[in-house]
Amino acid sequence: MSAWRSDELLTPPLVGKRIAILGYGSQGRAQALNLRDSGADVVVGLRDGSSRESEAQGDGLTVQAIEDAVAAADVIALLVPESAHEDLLSQKVFPIARRGAALVFAHGFTPLYTSLEFREDLQRLLVAPKAIGPELRRLYVEGRGAPALVSAEPGDLELAKAYAFALGCGRAGVLASSFREETEADLFSEQAVLCGGLPALIIAAFDTLVENGYSEEAAYFECLFEVRLIAEMMVQHGIAGMAERISDTARFGAAISGHEIVDERMREKLRGLLRSIQSGEFARAFEREREGGMARSIHWLETLRRSRIEAAHRRIAEANVLPAASPAATEAASGKATPSGEA
Ligand SMILES: NC(=O)c1ccc[n+]([C@@H]2O[C@H](COP(=O)([O-])OP(=O)(O)OC[C@H]3O[C@@H](n4cnc5c(N)ncnc54)[C@H](OP(=O)(O)O)[C@@H]3O)[C@@H](O)[C@H]2O)c1
Repeated sequence: MSAWRSDELLTPPLVGKRIAILGYGSQGRAQALNLRDSGADVVVGLRDGSSRESEAQGDGLTVQAIEDAVAAADVIALLVPESAHEDLLSQKVFPIARRGAALVFAHGFTPLYTSLEFREDLQRLLVAPKAIGPELRRLYVEGRGAPALVSAEPGDLELAKAYAFALGCGRAGVLASSFREETEADLFSEQAVLCGGLPALIIAAFDTLVENGYSEEAAYFECLFEVRLIAEMMVQHGIAGMAERISDTARFGAAISGHEIVDERMREKLRGLLRSIQSGEFARAFEREREGGMARSIHWLETLRRSRIEAAHRRIAEANVLPAASPAATEAASGKATPSGEA
């Protein structure tokens, strides 16, 4: 694997550059603090009445109106939710940004799918840390870093690398990618595994046990709680390394059942999901969802909140049985707890 590494945090392409961080949620806070602690010149741009203003000021950062932050910036990082990007770009960035300024995206969704005409002189940089914001910050403070994918389409790749190094990502590894690769792989993994497939499998397995007379508590521990241990083992030791470390009954059971669950029909569904992302169908569906006030996302969240596994989780959490969570898990991956259409 070829990755750029750097223990140096502030490197020449970023020296003397003013960075405007737009948004102070999950990524915004982590990136602003890491960049500032690396010696970069950072201001935070927030909309009028933002509830995060006092938090950013309390963190020792300069806060400005978005328009003022953008007007003086050489580098503008769009760290607000995707649903807000088009309005922000068309109303508060394109009319104001300096000639040749660099726009930094933490995810390639907007540059890839938007119908907006980008100003031709503006650079479009991708710096996508592979960590949620609180984790990016925690690793930096511990003297470590999260890996990141970078690209410049068009723009100065050296500046994208320097931005990633100032986030601490050079301590782990910065890899060349593209807006398309990062976005499609990221959306696919969220849907197929991380946020869609894995929770759905956990719920289905939990329901199967409960419908067959097992207690919700036992089902919860077996189907959800232990995911953490297995995920940690796979990340640390690889999937074969995990399989070497489990019991002989677990290993035999996995050997005969995993491919029965993820069979050829399921693989075909995964290929279908990927095709809908590659064709732009998913992006068009998201646009309709945004126009409709995020109704399906809200409905999904409400259904989860009312589910039996959630009730079991609440009871177990209230009984103080759960071990302390990692710092990253205690904070939301997104600064927003509830999706809404008003972003
Ligand atoms: N969450 C992650 O860890 C993660 C990981 C990798 C990549 N990313 C990417 O990072 C970017 C930011 O995501 P995020 O999860 O960090 O966002 P987030 O936490 O939801 O962002 C919240 C911030 O965005 C501001 N905001 C929301 N709507 C706005 C609007 N219409 N105009 C101006 N400001 C607005 C909020 O302003 P107020 O303060 O006024 O409420 C708040 O400061 C996205 O491109 C995302 O795909 C995120």
